[in-house]
Amino acid sequence: MLPTPVVPTPDYSRVYEPAEDSFLFLDLFEQLHDAGHFARTSSTASRQPGELRVVVELGAGSGVVSTFIAANRIIPNAFHIATDINATALETTRNTFAHNCGAGAPAEAPFDVLRASLTDAFRPHEIDVLLFNPPYVPSEEIPPVPSVQDDASDSWLDLALVGGHDGMLVTGQVLASLNSVLAPQGEAYILFCARNNHPQVVQRFRQKNPNFSVDCVIARKCGWEELAIYRFTKLS
Ligand SMILES: C[S@@+](CC[C@H](N)C(=O)[O-])C[C@H]1O[C@@H](n2cnc3c(N)ncnc32)[C@H](O)[C@@H]1O
Repeated sequence: MLPTPVVPTPDYSRVYEPAEDSFLFLDLFEQLHDAGHFARTSSTASRQPGELRVVVELGAGSGVVSTFIAANRIIPNAFHIATDINATALETTRNTFAHNCGAGAPAEAPFDVLRASLTDAFRPHEIDVLLFNPPYVPSEEIPPVPSVQDDASDSWLDLALVGGHDGMLVTGQVLASLNSVLAPQGEAYILFCARNNHPQVVQRFRQKNPNFSVDCVIARKCGWEELAIYRFTKLS
């Protein structure tokens, strides 16, 4: 079993604490590693041999998912970018990576953080592997993003959790950008809960994007919550 990263500077009043959804990503990526998935898909159509694959986690929070993948070299030849809108989350992610990967790792597993909203900062066809454990809890509204200076705002945890109508407002924006931001043969791993009505969401996505294959790659009942991660693969 691959080691779970330690989060050395947790401030769970402002940053999402790793939970069942985070650990579902860890279990999935361990399974993909054991199955040799990323060794088989070692280069995408848009990369030259030896060119690094761009692996992006949207909303990295504590950084536990990106650090797990980078520290265990689950995706060969990867440049990891962990994003969030929450500056404290990015600081936590940086510390989590440094603590678990040590000083020698960056040359082999380059890693950086970026304050950005969803896929806004990325150029078309730039991302080879995208991961997103989104704010997915249904809510009446999503609070506005506080200013970076408003570090102590209560809104950061709400922004980590709530996803508006059907819990799908944030995830919906990412799904709408996938065809543009993913490289050919790129993959996106996105988590849903049952209340997101994911079978219907996936059906609509397939209708709009016939150049993708979509599969549920792991699902688990966690207490009263049912979680599933889908893989969206851009075929052309
Ligand atoms: C459910 S938490 C997941 C955190 C971490 N990835 C994990 O699995 O433990 C959702 C994360 O998305 C971030 N987030 C919310 N809205 C965002 C947006 N528009 N752009 C980027 N990140 C966002 C939150 O700050 C939070 O860190």
